[in-house]
Amino acid sequence: MAEKIINLKNEAIGNILEAKDEKELERLKILYLGRSGKINQLTKEFPHFSPEEKIKAGRQLNETKKAIEEALENQLSAVSNQLSAKEEWFDVTEPSIKPKIGHLHLLTEAIREISSVFEKIGFVRVRYPEVEWDWYAFEGLNMPSTHPARDDFESFFVDTPAHPKLGRMTLTPHTSNGQLREMERIKPPIRMINIARCHRPNWDITHTPTFHQFEGLVIDKGINISHLKGIFDYFAVNFFGKDRRTRLRPFHFQFTEPSFEVDINCPLCLGKGCRTCKSGWMELGGSGMVHPRVLENGGLDPNIYSGFAFGWGVERTYIMRSGLKLGDIRPLYESDLRFINQF
Ligand code: DAH
Repeated sequence: MAEKIINLKNEAIGNILEAKDEKELERLKILYLGRSGKINQLTKEFPHFSPEEKIKAGRQLNETKKAIEEALENQLSAVSNQLSAKEEWFDVTEPSIKPKIGHLHLLTEAIREISSVFEKIGFVRVRYPEVEWDWYAFEGLNMPSTHPARDDFESFFVDTPAHPKLGRMTLTPHTSNGQLREMERIKPPIRMINIARCHRPNWDITHTPTFHQFEGLVIDKGINISHLKGIFDYFAVNFFGKDRRTRLRPFHFQFTEPSFEVDINCPLCLGKGCRTCKSGWMELGGSGMVHPRVLENGGLDPNIYSGFAFGWGVERTYIMRSGLKLGDIRPLYESDLRFINQF
């Protein structure tokens, strides 16, 4: 009897493992465990057994029944998993949905691009404090505290005790503090591009209290205005396009002598004058030959060294190039994704 039961168990489990679908498993369940299934048929032989044999065979049959039930259950879940895997089949060659990719903020892109144009001709990008002593932001740039030129650079002063030599602290209203800082850091030749945050208390469609400037400074022996003009034309061509040129207009800044406003020719009429630009030219920003007093304040002898400097707005320059026609620059700082995602 024991052998018969083992054979039945082996046969049943073998068949169950080969079953490919639910229907087949259902059939096997009836075949082995059903009322007139193979297990029950074996019990028909029990009456001929001695009481001990009955107990032994009963226990063995019960175990077999359990093993068959377990095998049926396992195979059922294996078969249904295979089925659902089939349902999830997909074509790997089919074009998929593109994952969303972020991008740099417009201003970060502008800063990187401006730096790279200057870095190609040996300028080194530096950064200096954006909370700065009066000396670097004003006094050392030839603007003593009583000078009316300071009115152009209305500033946020910090409410801290003044330094005995360097004066009060201010949020930098321009990047020109970098000029003195750079002269303190290294001896000429100097080719600096300082891009930093600036602050002035203005808020309207063309001004935000925080904005960015890029400040260039070149100092060496024998630097003159033609170098300044050459660098501006290089920038015009490489940043704005091959037909672009600059022109200089006399101006006044305390820290340069002579001083200029730099204009760039209009992209539409290239300087002839049209409805968009009127004069043919558009203003880029300030520049000039570094004032001898500023060189001295930076520890350099103006009889040996000369240099030029310029300071232009990042936002303004970038907007002029990309033709964004932003009526209002404030959205640049408002983190509204509906605006930012357009670029
Ligand atoms: N710092 C000036 C401003 O914010 C711009 C400027 C003018 C920078 C002339 C210079 C310069 O380096 O030479 O308006």
